[in-house]
Amino acid sequence: MNRSSHRLPCERAAGGAAGVTGSTGTTGEPHDRPRRLVVGLSGSSAPQLGIAFLEALHGLRQVETHLVVSEGARRSLELEAGVDPDHVAKLADAVHDVRDLAAPISSGSFLTEGMVVIPCSMRSLAAIATGNSTDLLTRAADVALKERRRLVLVTRETPLNLVHIRNMETVTLAGATVLPPVLGFYHRPRSVEDLVAQVVGKVLDQFGVAHDLFRRWGSDG
Ligand SMILES: Cc1cc2nc3c(=O)[nH]c(=O)nc-3n(C[C@H](O)[C@H](O)[C@H](O)COP(=O)(O)O)c2cc1C
Repeated sequence: MNRSSHRLPCERAAGGAAGVTGSTGTTGEPHDRPRRLVVGLSGSSAPQLGIAFLEALHGLRQVETHLVVSEGARRSLELEAGVDPDHVAKLADAVHDVRDLAAPISSGSFLTEGMVVIPCSMRSLAAIATGNSTDLLTRAADVALKERRRLVLVTRETPLNLVHIRNMETVTLAGATVLPPVLGFYHRPRSVEDLVAQVVGKVLDQFGVAHDLFRRWGSDG
């Protein structure tokens, strides 16, 4: 990844990503520009969740993704997924260096629909819970909270200690949604990919992005 780059707009694959069927919006306002979503990857296990989320949105013109990858995530991407962070960067519309606190997503005046951190490490969770915004990922999350925009944290650690739990409580009280990647089987998964898709779909639901990534309880399809 060119860590100082801000690519916007960038080339996108033609057509929508598999499983993503359109956008319903979360504000109820007509969209005369693409909806913007900040996507943070931090250094917990399961970087595959972040990759799958970006893949789901890739090519969907309604959602302009602004990616920030923490130092920890760069390491977990290489160690756990065998993926070069540059490859992940290609899935986003704009990429921001985690050290660049002057990037657009560092300011509340840069309009977005919110942010997801997927996956979210306990270190990033703690920084967000304490307002300790020393890197761009945690600053962008702080911006989402102060602007009362949606912030979804896909926190990944197990088991949890009291510090983790208290930090989750704090961010929840501040307006964030804690959405751990907890296994579900009501959609009858047959593969790890099915389990990952269900988590990605649950996050997309939070932002009102229509998809058919998993079969919903009570639906026929
Ligand atoms: C392979 C690997 C897996 C890790 N898994 C987790 C994890 O599941 N949850 C977590 O909170 N931290 C995990 N860590 C530790 C974080 O990467 C570390 O705390 C790092 O400082 C997080 O920084 P960041 O939030 O800026 O990415 C892992 C580290 C490595 C190298």
